[in-house]
Amino acid sequence: MANDPRDALPDKLHVYTGTAIDVTYDKKRCIHVGACIRGLPRVFDPGSRPWVIVGNSTADKIAAAVELCPSGSLQYVRKDGGPAEVPDAGNALLVSPDGPLFIRGQLELVEPDGSVRKETRLTLCRCGASAHKPYCDNSHLKVRFQDGARALPKDKLEPDHAGPSGLLRIEPQADGPVQLSGNLRVLDAAGTVAGTTTGAAFCRCGHSGTKPFCDGSHEKAGFSTA
Ligand code: FES
Repeated sequence: MANDPRDALPDKLHVYTGTAIDVTYDKKRCIHVGACIRGLPRVFDPGSRPWVIVGNSTADKIAAAVELCPSGSLQYVRKDGGPAEVPDAGNALLVSPDGPLFIRGQLELVEPDGSVRKETRLTLCRCGASAHKPYCDNSHLKVRFQDGARALPKDKLEPDHAGPSGLLRIEPQADGPVQLSGNLRVLDAAGTVAGTTTGAAFCRCGHSGTKPFCDGSHEKAGFSTA
């Protein structure tokens, strides 16, 4: 979204407090997909200050709208005894056209210092240009990253089978790909299931000839995540 008023907000975690629910907004992870705004415009209004108006709806509706946020930029804490977010039953990764990897499920992201973050929704950079790796920051638009992701290399995937589940471990490698370990369904740009995997290295330098998978091109490209 061009000229989004939220871009003027400071780079930090913003907290919007209500009586029944608190909402947090990590500006650096937001890629302006707009799912929250379309889902609940009375609460999520980028033109207002604050832009999240927690008092304008119920905790259930706000929680449902937050869960639409693909990047995990939005999170919530229930204060009314309502349920916490439940991860999607099956882990799924969608390779977006000319954009990031959209991942949902029971996720465990390993930070550079080895600490682990539990997540349910992530958008990960695959163009190599993000200033906030491993997260997407929409730099793919600036560098005009191109990969339609319409036909994924199926030789690196197994045929789809029902119900991939359990924990998906996500380990970004220094100067290299992001290693995913665990049951995962992979979808192409059209949202069609291309297959499943229990472990694969996904390119995050933007140079692979077998996108979305790593083919080792990051070394020749001198890719640096420092
Ligand atoms: S990370 Fe891009 S080819 Fe390995």
